[in-house]
Amino acid sequence: MSRVAYVNGTYVPMNEAYVHIDDRGYQFADGVYEGISVRRGKLVDLEPHLDRLWRSMQELRIAPPMERAPMRFILREVVRRNRINDGFIYMQITRGVARRDHPFPAHSVPAMVVTVKRMDFDASMKRAAEQGVAASSQPDIRWGRCDVKSTSLLPNILAKQAAREAGAFEAVLVDKDGYVTEGSSTNIWMVTKDGKLVTRSTDDNILPGITRQSVKKVAESLQMSIEERKFSLEEVKDAAEMFLTSSTSCATPIVVLDGEKIGDGTPGPVAKRLIEAYQAYMDAGA
Ligand code: PDD
Repeated sequence: MSRVAYVNGTYVPMNEAYVHIDDRGYQFADGVYEGISVRRGKLVDLEPHLDRLWRSMQELRIAPPMERAPMRFILREVVRRNRINDGFIYMQITRGVARRDHPFPAHSVPAMVVTVKRMDFDASMKRAAEQGVAASSQPDIRWGRCDVKSTSLLPNILAKQAAREAGAFEAVLVDKDGYVTEGSSTNIWMVTKDGKLVTRSTDDNILPGITRQSVKKVAESLQMSIEERKFSLEEVKDAAEMFLTSSTSCATPIVVLDGEKIGDGTPGPVAKRLIEAYQAYMDAGA
C-alpha cells in the first residue's frame, strides 16, 4: 500500500511528497513539530499536543498555518487515508519558503507536512514490560530553549547515535552539573528505594512531554507519590527503578545504565504497573 502524506494543502503519495529547497525548515531547521500516537484509529492526547504545538509556534513567532479545527481534520484524514489502526503521526510546521537569509522573512507562508507510520503498541509494550531497555549517559549539549519542540535536533541525534553505538536504546542527557535533564527523545523517571516516583519539573530545561503528563495523571490515580525535581546521574544509578516516557515508547523501563544494572536489572513493579495503566488510558480513547 502506498503511503499518503499531507503537504501544504494536498494529500499526495509519499513518492511525490516534496518541499521546496528554500523552505526555512530545510535551510535552518526553522520549524516546530509534534508526534502523536494513534491507538485504534484515535489520536492519543490530541488536544494537549495541539496546545504544545501552538505554544512552540508562538515562542518562535511562526504564524499558525490554519486554525485548530481544520488541523484536527487533516490529522484524522491522514490516519484514515493510510488505514492506520495503531501508529504514530508526525506533523511539522516551518516558517516557510524564502530566499536564504537569517532574519525572519518579511513575507512567508508557513509550510505544513503530515506523515504517519504504523506501530505495534501491543508488541512494544509487552516487550518493554518483559525486557526493558539499556541506556547510556551522554552530555546534554542542547540550546537553552528545550521547552520548544523545534526541529533543530542535531544534539539529540548525536546523543542517540552515541547511545546506539554503545549498545543502548536511549541516551540519558546529563547537564554540566551532573543532573539528568531528559532522554534524547524521551522524558526520564526514577523510582527511589522508598517508592517515590521522581521526574524533573517542566520549568527546567526539558520538553514538557505529553506522555509524561498523562503518566503522571495515571500514577496519581494509582495513589503513587510523585516528586518533580532534579536528580543526578549518581542518584539515578542507585534508584530502585528507572523508566522513560514518550509518545512512541509509552512507558519503558530502563534496566541498565552505562552498563550498570538499575535495581536488579529487570523491569520493576512500579514501571510495570504504569505500563499496564497507561495502556488502559490509551485504550480508553484518551
Ligand atoms: N519525542 N523529550 C524529548 C527531547 C522529545 O523529543 C520527546 C518526544 C519527549 C517526549 O514527549 P512526548 O511524551 O510528548 O512524546 C521528551 C518524539 C516522540 C520524537 O521526537 O519523535
